[in-house]
Amino acid sequence: MCHKPLILGLGLFLGAGAAAASHFGDAVVEDELLLHKVLGTASCATSGCHGGAGLVHGTVATFRREDPHARSYETLATPRSARMGEALGIADVRTSASCTVCHAPVASVPEGLRGEDLRVEDGVGCASCHDSTESWLRTHTRPELDHSAKVAAGMRDLRSAYARANACVACHQVIEPRLVETGRHPRLIFELDGQLAAEPAHWREVHGWDGAKAWLVGQAVAWREAGAAHADGRDTMVGAAEREAALAWLVARAGGAGAAGSAADAVARRLDDDWPAGEGEAVLRRLAGVGEDFRATGISRLEQAYRAERLVLGLDRVLAAWPERARAKAAESVLARLFTAAQSVPEFQPAGFANLLDELARVVGGAG
Ligand code: HEC
Ligand code: HEC
Ligand code: HEC
Repeated sequence: MCHKPLILGLGLFLGAGAAAASHFGDAVVEDELLLHKVLGTASCATSGCHGGAGLVHGTVATFRREDPHARSYETLATPRSARMGEALGIADVRTSASCTVCHAPVASVPEGLRGEDLRVEDGVGCASCHDSTESWLRTHTRPELDHSAKVAAGMRDLRSAYARANACVACHQVIEPRLVETGRHPRLIFELDGQLAAEPAHWREVHGWDGAKAWLVGQAVAWREAGAAHADGRDTMVGAAEREAALAWLVARAGGAGAAGSAADAVARRLDDDWPAGEGEAVLRRLAGVGEDFRATGISRLEQAYRAERLVLGLDRVLAAWPERARAKAAESVLARLFTAAQSVPEFQPAGFANLLDELARVVGGAG
């Protein structure tokens, strides 16, 4: 019930075809959709709202100047995108839902639901992450309403790691196989903490944000999405099963008892709700201690390579969040070599990787 705005948003902006996260909730109620029109970035840009100066008021300016999402539609007009279209037999990638579903999601909003200033040129606009219906917009500027009242009116709550992961994963994990195999689109690897850090923040983190937690909750959500796409036949790419298995392994290893015995979505929620003090460091020790897993027989080299690929990204995030900076620095120099070892999936050597992990475990202080 309380997740309704989130589900509504995903269903609305991603359409049926690529609604990567749509399976975790019930179907969108048609009647509700028809009540609200979708608004464009310009609606948020008036000077009294997010169009002025400063962090909150200057959001639109910051976003348009610095955020990769503001350029996501322009990307479709580049020669590289045109070449992708040629390979895929898509006449115009700027108008094909195969591309706009992520690069300009408002293109999929049906005619009757379009607000006046909705423009595909805005690319991934404010509404793609925050949701934006006229009803929500009317209430969210009222000072007497608190955050939860705004959320109840349709604003997506992006405060928690779980909610953010759901918002971002929709466009950052699962992609139609032919886009990658034939079109040479970059493979998508969702990693919440690093990708949040890479997006120029137009917000202040005031909620005791923990990067290690964001990383792990994000990986559980990525596992849920990879699993669903594999199970329902959206991901038929070579290695789909191995990538799913690698994520399951990673979340189980990193989360320890907190991740045991549940489906991915339940694990993600539980980690988000229950993250005791010192858990980030515990995750680091668990991850540094997985060397033996890369010596185990019976795991295919492909799965090992995907495990390694995700593991190094995770180690990077938990080390970045580790308060013991001097030891983190020493660990990061080992991590640089782990990155190199995990670079190429086809050439991955599990035994050498395991040795490097043992070295990391010594720097970090052993498995705990
Ligand atoms: C509606 C789809 C959509 C959503 C939702 C979305 N993104 Fe993106 N994101 C994109 C697209 C498309 C690009 C590529 C932009 C371009 O054309 O260069 C991108 C690019 C990025 C980039 C730069 C490239 C990279 O991977 O380093 C970052 C960082 C990023 N997104 C982070 C996030 C985060 C964090 C969230 C959630 C708070 C999020 N995105 C939500 C579609 C989306
Ligand atoms: C499932 C969502 C999704 C779909 C569908 C999608 N993209 Fe992307 N695209 C992304 C994301 C996310 C990135 C950023 C990836 C990164 O940098 O890791 C991206 C990056 C790109 C880039 C590279 C941008 C750069 O500067 O490196 C190009 C070009 C591109 N997309 C074109 C297309 C075209 C053309 C289509 C349709 C044939 C398409 N995309 C469909 C999500 C998507
Ligand atoms: C790629 C996803 C994404 C897009 C697109 C996006 N935002 Fe955000 N926004 C976030 C996240 C994540 C937060 C942090 C949420 C929090 O802390 O409550 C946030 C926070 C905010 C905040 C709260 C700032 C604070 O800390 O007080 C405002 C206001 C805001 N966004 C406005 C906008 C506007 C206006 C646009 C369009 C110009 C926009 N956002 C586009 C993801 C996005």
